[in-house]
Amino acid sequence: MKTKRKLLAIHIIFIFLITSCSSKNTLDGDNTYIDSLISEMTIEEKVGQLNFPVGDLFNTGPTVRTSESARFDDLIREGKITGLFNAHGAAYTARLQKIAVEESRLGIPLLFGADVIHGFKTVFPLPLAEAASWDLEAIELAAKIAAKESTAAGINFNFAPMVDIARDARWGRISEGAGEDPYLGSLVAAARVRGFQGKSLSDPSTMAACVKHFAAYGAPVGGRDYNSVDMSLQALHEYYLPPYKAAIEAGSATVMTSFNDVNGIPATAHQYLLEDVLRKDWGFKGMVVSDWQSIGEMLAHGFVADSLEAAKLAIEAGTDMDMMADIYLKKIPELIKNGQLDEKILDQAVRRVLALKYDLGLFSNPYLYSNPEREKSDIRSEENLAVAHDIAKKSIVLLKNENKLLPLAKNIKKLALIGPLADNKEDMNGSWSFFGEAQHPVSIAEGIKNKVSSTTKIAFAKGCNLYDNDKSQFAEAVRIAKESDIVVMVLGESAVMNGEGASRADIGLPGVQEDLLKAIHQTGKPIAVLLLSGRPLTLEWMDQNIPAIVETWTLGSQAGLAVADVLFGDYNPAGKLPVTFPRAVGQLPLYYNHKNTGRPYHGKHEEPLTERVYRSRYRDVSNDPLYPFGYGLSYSTFAYSNITVDKKSIKSGEQIKVSVTLTNTSDRDGEEVVQLYIRDMVASVTRPVKELKGFQKVMLKAGEARAISFVLTDKELSFINHDLKRVTEPGQFAVMVGGNSRDTLTEYFELTQ
Ligand code: BGC
Repeated sequence: MKTKRKLLAIHIIFIFLITSCSSKNTLDGDNTYIDSLISEMTIEEKVGQLNFPVGDLFNTGPTVRTSESARFDDLIREGKITGLFNAHGAAYTARLQKIAVEESRLGIPLLFGADVIHGFKTVFPLPLAEAASWDLEAIELAAKIAAKESTAAGINFNFAPMVDIARDARWGRISEGAGEDPYLGSLVAAARVRGFQGKSLSDPSTMAACVKHFAAYGAPVGGRDYNSVDMSLQALHEYYLPPYKAAIEAGSATVMTSFNDVNGIPATAHQYLLEDVLRKDWGFKGMVVSDWQSIGEMLAHGFVADSLEAAKLAIEAGTDMDMMADIYLKKIPELIKNGQLDEKILDQAVRRVLALKYDLGLFSNPYLYSNPEREKSDIRSEENLAVAHDIAKKSIVLLKNENKLLPLAKNIKKLALIGPLADNKEDMNGSWSFFGEAQHPVSIAEGIKNKVSSTTKIAFAKGCNLYDNDKSQFAEAVRIAKESDIVVMVLGESAVMNGEGASRADIGLPGVQEDLLKAIHQTGKPIAVLLLSGRPLTLEWMDQNIPAIVETWTLGSQAGLAVADVLFGDYNPAGKLPVTFPRAVGQLPLYYNHKNTGRPYHGKHEEPLTERVYRSRYRDVSNDPLYPFGYGLSYSTFAYSNITVDKKSIKSGEQIKVSVTLTNTSDRDGEEVVQLYIRDMVASVTRPVKELKGFQKVMLKAGEARAISFVLTDKELSFINHDLKRVTEPGQFAVMVGGNSRDTLTEYFELTQ
């Protein structure tokens, strides 16, 4: 009784405190309320605040649970869980919250987490697709709407953004990030954090971001999910860590550790990463959550002998919250009792969790995020769907358009629509879209029907299934192709073929889809392929034989509308690849910012054998990608000319201006992403042949020419040296500007001390 009265007094003082001062940045400072609360807590209540299980609506990991909506009530009453993830809905979350606040001893509100990776009920394009827009405002807006919708349904903690740099398209989770480049990846990471968190975490339409998966989860050996990561610290700092850092600098309230080990230490107990880099060097003050059972998986890694040791090493390294392993709950009390863990470490983890709840405004209003009215008005509103349509158009990349086959005329007489993904709704939502409903998206068939003239006849044939070897539907597809003026084929991956646990050793079109394409090609009819995928695919035959190819990724709720806009020319595509498309899977990992090597091979296969045999190359496949990073066509054409630097030499600390003339050489207004790359010609650590250091997305009227300028400073010219210090070194730099990472104009300048 006494404790309850005391707590009530603390609550009253606290409400005064939070109404009289801004809640921003409390993670940084002392918080009397939280400290008093901690002083009232038993060890069991403390560990309860670190225990984060999945709710009973759906699973995103390997534990099968049945639906029992009262299953968590007692655990909440007993203070054994800090919140739930994947539980959602205003009424449901409010019901659970009421138990926490009114029936648990301390009344600490619950967190509700979820993977709102690319939208809630309004589904936006896959993150990789959105990155292809190179449009940071659009990306931020999509994240903002995702937050608005999911917070209305009770969710206040989002397991996003996923910012893992990925250079290997075999890895299925390449679809969840922004691709291969640290510069673009950092800007996208920050935009997503700003979108999710807005200006204040306690705003009911924003939620806490969780940058993941720390660290280097995107570099598993062989592209196989969960596999080990072994790389130099220099490469880790230079290419893999920047997007996490950018997310932290943008204010990400939380961080999720990764499943993998990094140079032999599982990320969840990685002192160097979690303590030295994240907290000491980057000054991160927020909360770190493990990934799904990753504390327990340290046993399988062979890093700890039992779960007692797992709990000790994880919490001591700075993993504050245990997602799904139940190990903190069971083992930390024992560790404290045995004197194996300092209670101060437990308190520190609890403080970070409570500070997050505090900053989210949950102590002042635990029901802030469970809003039945907003749930009705803010989810899948016309406005939100319009934003999804807009970013979907911007994400599309035109890969090939021979003889201007595209855009198609709307009054075309007979169009054959063929392919297993043409008349498909559910796969448009893509991987990691658990809240999106299968019947909601606009299919590509619907989008096309909506767009063509009333006299256009559309014949549809599936042609084949997505994965199996059944060719029995080929004949019908060939028949309708023969009767058509144009064939549009919709091919690629279904939603489950990318995302978690979806690595592929062969990244060609699955099943017999390429055979179907070849059969249709035999008819001699013009073909435009619309590709769906969450990763680069190997498309060499297609590229050699098919006149028009459009990468539509997986575009979400408004997929069909966006695709039809591009197909029929209502929108002029401007997307650029955020990731390299290889010719063959054996080239992987393949990325534009590679090193030159001591035996570079720039030549062609036709060169004499003596010229090429002892060079860094393959005997059977060229070194070049099929489509380079940054590549993408438009219905307009652009020419680059006249690259200049305003000084031939600069001193460290000075700026240099790089300019180029961009001309729209077509009769159509269009947008171009102008990209600036640098190369540090000689340095104490070998440098990549190209590094993206700036880009601008510009709209040019037909025939218009414009000077485009970039400014480079020490920041862009610096790199991580062997001692892991960010430095600039004097010497010659090349600057390259172009519409992709391959076709660029080059100038040089000197950096002097
Ligand atoms: C994934 C995380 C995700 C978590 C919760 C894990 O399997 O790796 O990205 O946030 O599940 O759904």
